[in-house]
Amino acid sequence: MTLIKKNPNTLDSWKKLQSNFKTLSQKKLNEYFAEDSDRAENMSIRWKSFYIDYSKNLLDQSTIDLLIQLAEESGLKQAISSYFDGEKINETEDRAVLHTALRQNSSSTVMFEGVDVVPEINKVNEKMFAFADQVISGQWKGFSGKPISHVVNIGIGGSDLGPAMVTEALEYYRNNLNVTFVSNVEGDHVEEVIKKLDPETTLFIVVSKSFTTQETLSNANTIRKWFLEHASEKAISQHFIAVSTNLEKVTAFGISEENVFPMNDWVGGRFSLWSTVGLSICLAVGSENFKNLLKGAGAMDAHFSATDFKENIPVILALITVWYNNFWGVETEAIIPYSQYLRNLPAYLQQGIMESNGKGVDRNGNPIDYQTGNIIWGASGTNAQHAFFQLMHQGTKLIPADFIGFAKPLHEGNDHHDKLMSNFFAQTQALMQGKNAEKVTEELKSAGKSKAEIEKLLPFKVFQGNRPSNTLFIDQLTPFNLGALIASYEHRIFVQGIIWNIFSYDQWGVELGKQLANNILSDFDGDDLQHHDPSTKALIYHYKRFRT
Ligand code: F6P
Repeated sequence: MTLIKKNPNTLDSWKKLQSNFKTLSQKKLNEYFAEDSDRAENMSIRWKSFYIDYSKNLLDQSTIDLLIQLAEESGLKQAISSYFDGEKINETEDRAVLHTALRQNSSSTVMFEGVDVVPEINKVNEKMFAFADQVISGQWKGFSGKPISHVVNIGIGGSDLGPAMVTEALEYYRNNLNVTFVSNVEGDHVEEVIKKLDPETTLFIVVSKSFTTQETLSNANTIRKWFLEHASEKAISQHFIAVSTNLEKVTAFGISEENVFPMNDWVGGRFSLWSTVGLSICLAVGSENFKNLLKGAGAMDAHFSATDFKENIPVILALITVWYNNFWGVETEAIIPYSQYLRNLPAYLQQGIMESNGKGVDRNGNPIDYQTGNIIWGASGTNAQHAFFQLMHQGTKLIPADFIGFAKPLHEGNDHHDKLMSNFFAQTQALMQGKNAEKVTEELKSAGKSKAEIEKLLPFKVFQGNRPSNTLFIDQLTPFNLGALIASYEHRIFVQGIIWNIFSYDQWGVELGKQLANNILSDFDGDDLQHHDPSTKALIYHYKRFRT
């Protein structure tokens, strides 16, 4: 079964949502709460150690019901089955989207093209876990007989962002291995990394699904050249590991077959941290923690695929985004984790969400006349409060936000967590409630301001409020909960893509720039720039003056 291909704006529920928006658009969050004393309870979902509060949104139950109707009319139920059953829902690349198979129970069955893929996943995982154990325990030695103390992950996009974000997020669970990530093609990036490395004790993991990515191969080649200035060719096998689907290219690069951790074609780059792409995570936190990360994601998969839409975390949160995006005309969405460990979650989700749903053509190949993927941005709280929250509180733009926080800190013994949590709750409260003229006047009066001063200051100090947010409140930052959290965002991407009638799992939009960069690269040594536009031509001329 292929996905159904109906544009959402032709559906009955869409039209009803348009009139629902007209009815509700002037209504204030405070009014919703005043009308329904059980709103916080009714508009929240409890699942394992997650408490999802979506009550601070500009909608009521009638909106939620219509959004669910929209999901149903879009064929979401059937689409979820197609996704989990390994159908080739990534039609434009003729691929299945089966990263969910990587986190299923090792005794379950996941069929793809008539074959159960789980035994092969188990086999590869066993190899990965055994390798990680050897490196962590010091059994795996470098060319001079010393154990490995530093791991460098060479990759970009999905071969970098996921492992880097999770490794950082699980800092608390880390062992003694240092892990560094090199991604950019910028020579200064790789040189800064090399500067700090000891060739005798460093392990390099070249991660590239395609093994054709310019950035990754350039960095890998530069690092290999540097390495060979200190060691022999023979030593490569103790220091270079590859993760890829492209065995031929890996061996041509000089990494032997036994040092390759394969990945499957049906794992998309931005959803690949669960596969062997997660090797650096496994090295940094050990196999047990990695397994728990997988278990958490697997638990979220089970929740998503089996729970009624009304109680389904990814479905409800995805639909709320659709509500703001397509009916309120909102363009961006902020992600604010109240955890410094998760400071790179927004950057990671930028790829996941924007590379997936940044599409302007529907599944029938026609241009789209409604909004699709949102612009994602954010930073960790409370830092973000001192940076861009001003605009969220008093600016002219409506910015729905996900606030993510953990009830229990990882380190005990200080009084910071109450302060962090009070900020976490206060911000969504302030965004919702605002501060009216009466309250501001009262405060200014008690601060001793004159009537004239109050009149002058009043408009600047009033907060309109009525700004929406979701609170994703989780017991503690554990590998399991992190896995579930990431998987919940993956499924939100899927739900939105289904509703917007787009293909979420290709990324043709990143190809043109790569092609043009190759053309320009070869033009640096030539004299004929006539085929370039005047602006680009001038830039190339300017650059050529600096080339040595
Ligand atoms: O540029 C886009 C992209 O294809 C991403 O989707 C992917 O994560 C990244 O490049 C890296 O690709 P690879 O793992 O094949 O090197």
